[in-house]
Amino acid sequence: MPRFDDSPSQDHSGVNSRRRVPYYLALALLLVASAAVLMSRPTVVHGSALATDPGPRPLPADSGNFYSTLNANQNAITHRLTQIFTEVNFVAGGPLVKTVGLGPRFNSNSCSSCHAYPAVGGSSPPNNPLFGIYQLMGATNTMPYFITSTGPVIVARFPFKSDGVSPDGGVHQMFTISNRTDAPGCTTEVQPDFTSAQQSNNIIFRQTTPTFGTGLMELIQESDILSNMNSNTTLKQSLGISGHPNYSDDDGTITRFGWKAQNKSLLYFAGEAYSVEEGVSDEAFPSENDESIPSCLPPFPVPPGTNKTKGVPDDRSDTGEAPKLPVNFPGDLERFSLFMRFLAPPTPVPPNSSTSNGLVQFNTIGCNMCHTNSFTTPRSTIAALSNLQANLFSDLLVHDMGPGLADNVSQGNATGDQFRTAPLWGIGQRYFFLHDGRTQDIVQAIEDHRSLGNGTYPDSEANTVINNFDGLSQTNQQDLINFLRSL
Ligand code: HEC
Ligand code: HEC
Repeated sequence: MPRFDDSPSQDHSGVNSRRRVPYYLALALLLVASAAVLMSRPTVVHGSALATDPGPRPLPADSGNFYSTLNANQNAITHRLTQIFTEVNFVAGGPLVKTVGLGPRFNSNSCSSCHAYPAVGGSSPPNNPLFGIYQLMGATNTMPYFITSTGPVIVARFPFKSDGVSPDGGVHQMFTISNRTDAPGCTTEVQPDFTSAQQSNNIIFRQTTPTFGTGLMELIQESDILSNMNSNTTLKQSLGISGHPNYSDDDGTITRFGWKAQNKSLLYFAGEAYSVEEGVSDEAFPSENDESIPSCLPPFPVPPGTNKTKGVPDDRSDTGEAPKLPVNFPGDLERFSLFMRFLAPPTPVPPNSSTSNGLVQFNTIGCNMCHTNSFTTPRSTIAALSNLQANLFSDLLVHDMGPGLADNVSQGNATGDQFRTAPLWGIGQRYFFLHDGRTQDIVQAIEDHRSLGNGTYPDSEANTVINNFDGLSQTNQQDLINFLRSL
């Protein structure tokens, strides 16, 4: 940077004060500008990546289609399944009896508001949908500080209870139904104090994961996950990579859904999401998500001719309580699950010389020792899902990712810094990366894999591989990034 006093025209005498004004002005501007640059720098240590992220591939979406191999009966119900996944839930009084049950606490009012991009079933859209939802029907919610109009749809968990020691780890819903016109009498439900949680450093975030191809992930056999884990052991050891499955507390089998592979099945995840994200109690999670304020619990008084909640739970199979035969037999959980199971994985763009070399580099430097290129599904009761090569780029194991990514939440036997190797299919059209959606830059997402251990957590298992990435030539790095953006 040239020094200011190198300029021959610069007046050093101090006599001509008119010329000194621009000098100090320039200096001040420079200081402000460099402070802004410093402040906008990411706090995570940056390696020496030479590549740039071309950004998400534009629409149209290369995902969100049902398998073309569904049979006629399955095709006949896809429309109805989509309706349920996209349906907006009200508290009471809505036009359809199926759409009542929102709250008392909720993050959003439909699956597809969060699972939105690049197609229904996906993840966060570039413009945050929650601004169109939080004050619907007269609700008096304020928007938490961490939700921004162009930021990811994230949900908040508090690692510890208010004593600061006992583990909490649960989702704390952003919004309540207080003062909504469809929740008459409910006025005193209060939003969590997110700002205090932030001040006491007791809040973490999880962004929305896509559901395309999850039917295949559900089918992958435990024996295949384990034999993949036990392959290439010498190479993995030299790279510092281990990893282990997360297991169900209930039956001891391998769980695989969610950022920590904490959930067993799509049905179970749907049940949890309906209750946790929308407050719609269901057959898997039959309690309302906050029973502390009776006036905010169903049934609500509603105008005649509109629908009130039937009782607890809000959603369940039709057991024949109506004066007609059960017509709608399964509850929504079955339909959510079938919707997701029928969604084919994203289609990558056809390879070119850059992306083909990118895949070679990805596998050569060891990304594939966690991001396993593919698994093959066994024969399924849904023929369309049988014996398919699922190119998910994940080993479905959890790995220590070090203090840089740690969120201090344990789930099953995934500890506070362990995360499921994120599946990479569809990543080419994604806007936000890593469990908390902290970056939109795929190169930064790679660099953020690296962190050194501290007293609480070990080194990230990815450190050596990320150093390998930094050691690639600029062309090879760029090809690898182009490959990721082709997925
Ligand atoms: C407020 C936003 C939001 C809503 C509404 C929502 N989800 Fe999610 N979904 C998330 C987040 C965040 C995650 C990641 C959760 C985690 O791992 O902690 C997720 C993860 C999932 C997953 C796991 C996918 C995988 O590969 O791990 C499934 C399945 C899922 N959601 C289904 C549903 C269904 C079905 C509904 C509607 C009943 C729904 N979600 C409603 C935000 C939402
Ligand atoms: C030790 C295992 C491991 C290795 C090695 C590894 N990853 Fe990952 N990767 C993960 C885990 C775990 C996550 C999720 C971390 C989180 O969100 O906190 C992840 C996330 C990602 C994401 C973001 C995905 C999303 O949904 O937001 C990208 C992109 C990615 N990895 C690419 C790579 C590339 C490229 C390499 C090689 C240079 C690599 N990874 C090496 C385990 C690994």
